[in-house]
Amino acid sequence: MSRLFVRKPLGQLLSEASESEKGLKRTLSAGSLVALGIGAIIGAGLFVRTAAAAGAHAGPAVTLSFVIAAIGCALAGLCYAEFASMIPIAGSAYTYSYATLGEVVAWIIGWDLVLEYALGAATVSIGWSQYLNNLLSTLFHVTIPYEWSHSPFQMSEAGVRGIINIPAICILLLLTLLLIRGTQESAVVNTVIVIVKVAIVLLFIALGWKFIDPANHTPYTIPANAGTVQLSDGAVIDYSNFWNHGWPGVLTGAGIVFFAFIGFDAVSTTAQETKNPKKAMPIGILVSLAICTVLYILFSHVLTGVAPYRDFLKAGSEASVAYAIDTYMPGLGWLSLMITIAILAGFSSVILVMLLGQTRVFYSMSNDGLVPPVFSALHPKYRTPYKSQILFFVFTAVFAGFVPDHIVGNMTSIGTLFAFVLVCIGVLVMRKSNPEVPRPFKTPWVPVVPIAGAVVCLLMIFGLGIDNWLRLLVWLAIGFAIYFGYSVKHSKARKLKE
Ligand code: ALA
Repeated sequence: MSRLFVRKPLGQLLSEASESEKGLKRTLSAGSLVALGIGAIIGAGLFVRTAAAAGAHAGPAVTLSFVIAAIGCALAGLCYAEFASMIPIAGSAYTYSYATLGEVVAWIIGWDLVLEYALGAATVSIGWSQYLNNLLSTLFHVTIPYEWSHSPFQMSEAGVRGIINIPAICILLLLTLLLIRGTQESAVVNTVIVIVKVAIVLLFIALGWKFIDPANHTPYTIPANAGTVQLSDGAVIDYSNFWNHGWPGVLTGAGIVFFAFIGFDAVSTTAQETKNPKKAMPIGILVSLAICTVLYILFSHVLTGVAPYRDFLKAGSEASVAYAIDTYMPGLGWLSLMITIAILAGFSSVILVMLLGQTRVFYSMSNDGLVPPVFSALHPKYRTPYKSQILFFVFTAVFAGFVPDHIVGNMTSIGTLFAFVLVCIGVLVMRKSNPEVPRPFKTPWVPVVPIAGAVVCLLMIFGLGIDNWLRLLVWLAIGFAIYFGYSVKHSKARKLKE
């Protein structure tokens, strides 16, 4: 039993970090971490999932959903920052928990992070496909046929069923190839994209503000008697349902738009490639989170003020921001075009960081013997984990190609929320078990902040509903099967103990 909770000694972790010249290259500064953070954060959560949350659950009060999600992230972010400054080594929450909570918890978190990063990348690639079709239709009046740009579980208004989402798979492939070339080059591309992305969010807020119709913001939460809406695939959204109106709707909305914040922790997965990580890590995490929170609240205020929330279930259910501009902001066709192009580039940067984070977590897990060595094999020239990159391309492509975005998106949210809960608890445990270890950044007001962080994240998990709880349980069950079937036999920490 005690073996299950075997810990990786902190000293060993830190000496592994200092051996970085043998592994990944240290090229990233605090500035590039903030850019990496924003690059990972602003994406499909804002430009796709916000409209979905507003349409089915929160209405204009999706702004409040963002507030709840931001509070959860800020609290968990403070816990992340303490760990990231203390244990500056690749692997994110996985690595921290290996040193604190023991192997089996570390495994659960590492396994959970696959939901966050790999499925996160898949979700964004599906959003990318929607905006690509929007661009093609604006510029050339053609679109990729519905069946080749949607999953088999989706149906168009005209009754066409999807087969496979090819554009989503293509963008994943392209970015995988870019990542195999190396992170430094990718970071430069990323910085340019981040600037464009923030600029278009600001532009939409500034230009959209005067198109806000106060009637769209009244009442602010969805009333229980708002009726029903039939979706193109035949499903019906009934607003009288407990989770589809009022404050419960806002809470479900928070679980959905939480997706928009995912990624700030991806910053911590690159610790081994960061110069002076003890200082740069907390800055990277907290600054990128703060900037995004302000932008999101303003953006969703404008979006739901410009278009009635019900639209986002029907005509505006795809490429929703472009839809809102084209339909309700006359004379701003150029803005819609610019935003679409920027979104395509912006989503690419999100996918990039997600795929990067994913392989770096598995790189650590593989070095620890919990997953096969193929995940830590470095390319002889580029020194990137190229085999892992290719395997994860295949994995994400299956989800991107065949599963609808709301399912993959909510799985990403719930998996990440669960990992955050464990990180919050991890800070508490670590303060007790290793009080002497220097903490260049300390989470303030312990135990209030970690406990509150865990509670807010658990509330959002609750709001995501039973289907998502079951998906999380199935995923964890698969994880345990692999853990007991493979990892316990190959774990290096266990061998050290023997
Ligand atoms: N936060 C990222 C996004 O919204 C995952 O696309």
